[in-house]
Amino acid sequence: TVDVSGLVDTEGGLLDRAVFTDETVYRQEMRRVFAPSWLFLAHTDQFHRPGDFFTTWMGEDPVIVTMDRNRRIRAYLNSCRHRGARVCRADFGTTRNFTCTYHGWSFNLEGGLVSVPNREGYPDSFDTGQWGLVEVPHVETYRGLIFGTWNPAPVPLRESLGDMAWYMDAMLDHDEKGTVVVGGIHKWMLEGNWKLAAEQFATDWYHVNMSHASALMVLAPAGKKPKQEIVHRAGRQYVGANGHGAGFPVHPKNRFDDGTVHEWTDYDALRERLGDARVEGPLTNGHATVFPNFSYLPVNGSIRIWHPKGPDRMEVWAWTIVDASMPEEIREAQRLYNLRTFGPSGVFEQDDGENWSEVQGTAGGFMANRVALNYQMGLGGEREDGRHPGTTSELYSDAAGRSFYAHWRTLMNTPAWHEEHA
Ligand code: FES
Repeated sequence: TVDVSGLVDTEGGLLDRAVFTDETVYRQEMRRVFAPSWLFLAHTDQFHRPGDFFTTWMGEDPVIVTMDRNRRIRAYLNSCRHRGARVCRADFGTTRNFTCTYHGWSFNLEGGLVSVPNREGYPDSFDTGQWGLVEVPHVETYRGLIFGTWNPAPVPLRESLGDMAWYMDAMLDHDEKGTVVVGGIHKWMLEGNWKLAAEQFATDWYHVNMSHASALMVLAPAGKKPKQEIVHRAGRQYVGANGHGAGFPVHPKNRFDDGTVHEWTDYDALRERLGDARVEGPLTNGHATVFPNFSYLPVNGSIRIWHPKGPDRMEVWAWTIVDASMPEEIREAQRLYNLRTFGPSGVFEQDDGENWSEVQGTAGGFMANRVALNYQMGLGGEREDGRHPGTTSELYSDAAGRSFYAHWRTLMNTPAWHEEHA
C-alpha cells in the first residue's frame, strides 16, 4: 500500500506525475477508488425486455448488466465460477442464459448456475446454489443513468452525487420523458492514464481556446471569428466535495450546438422547468465528470466512460443520448453533431486525446518526476456564488481538479470495505 499524501498537494495545487505512471498506485486505485465508488454501467434505454444485456467494465473487472425476469436491472461479474472465462463475450444482445463457452456452465438472468455438463462427475457436496455469478450488490439509477458499486454498504447514489445532480439535470431532465440512446457506442483506445481525461472534464475549460483553436475556426461561419460564447471567460465551475466537477460558460442567449437542435429547443419551457441559472449556465455548453470516471458534454449529448487499462492506457466508451421527445430528424442532427465534434474522429476529441497522450508520454521520465505539475489556477477562489448550488469557482480554474484529487487521495489512503477485517 502506498501513502499518496506526498503525491497530491491540493492545498498548494501541486501534483506528482507518479499518479499517472506508478503501477502500485494503479493497482491500489482498483482496490480503493474503483471497488468502493459508484461506477457508471449503462443507460436504461439499453434494456427494454428481460434478457437484454450489455457487457462493460468496473475498473478492470468485466461485468454483465442485464434485465432479469422481473424486469429488474442487475449486474454480475462476467467471470465464470468454474475457471474464470467470461460467460458473455458479446457487447450487447438479448438472451435467456449466459453460457460459458469454455466448458458449458450456464447461468440464468438471476445469476444462478442452472446447467453443468457432466454434473454427475461432481461429488454430492457440489451445490450449484453456491456457484452462481458474483453479483454487483448495489445497482441504482439516476435519470436514466445506471450506476453500480461493489461496496456492500454504500452511500446511496443520489446522496453521493449531492449537488452534482442539479448540474446533471441540465442534460438529463428537459422534460418528463427523459433521454434515450441513439446510434451505437463508440469505443477507442488512448495512450494516457484515465485520470487525465476525467480531471479535464471536471475542471479544465482553460485548454479550450488553445487546444481547440483550429476546431473553433473550422466551426466559425466563413469570415467570422470563432464562436464568442466558447472563448468567453464568463462562467462558473462546480467544485464537488465528492470529486465531481462541472464547468460551463454563462450565456443568456445561445447554446453552442447544431443549429437544428438549437432551433427545435423550447428554451422558455426549459427555463420554467430548470430555472434561468441552469439554462444560462450548465445547459449552454460545458463539460463534467462524475467521480471517478464518468463524464459528459450536455450540448453534444455525449456521455462517456474512461475505462482504465493499465497506468498509461484508457479505453473510451461514448454514447450519444438525446431527449426522448426529439423527433427523428432532430435526433439525427444531434447524433451527427456529436460525432463531428466529440466522436472518435471528432474535431474536438482529437485535440484532447493528443494532449493526454502527450502528458502521459512525458510523465515517465526521471527528471520529469522531480518537478510537480501545476494545479494552482483559482487557488483559494472557491465559494458559494448564490446562483449555482454547492461550491463554485471561476470558469478558468483548477478548483474542481484539486477537489477531484483530494477525494482520490482520501480514498487511496483509506482502507476500503474489503480491507476492514483484513
Ligand atoms: Fe466456464 Fe469452465 S470456465 S465452464
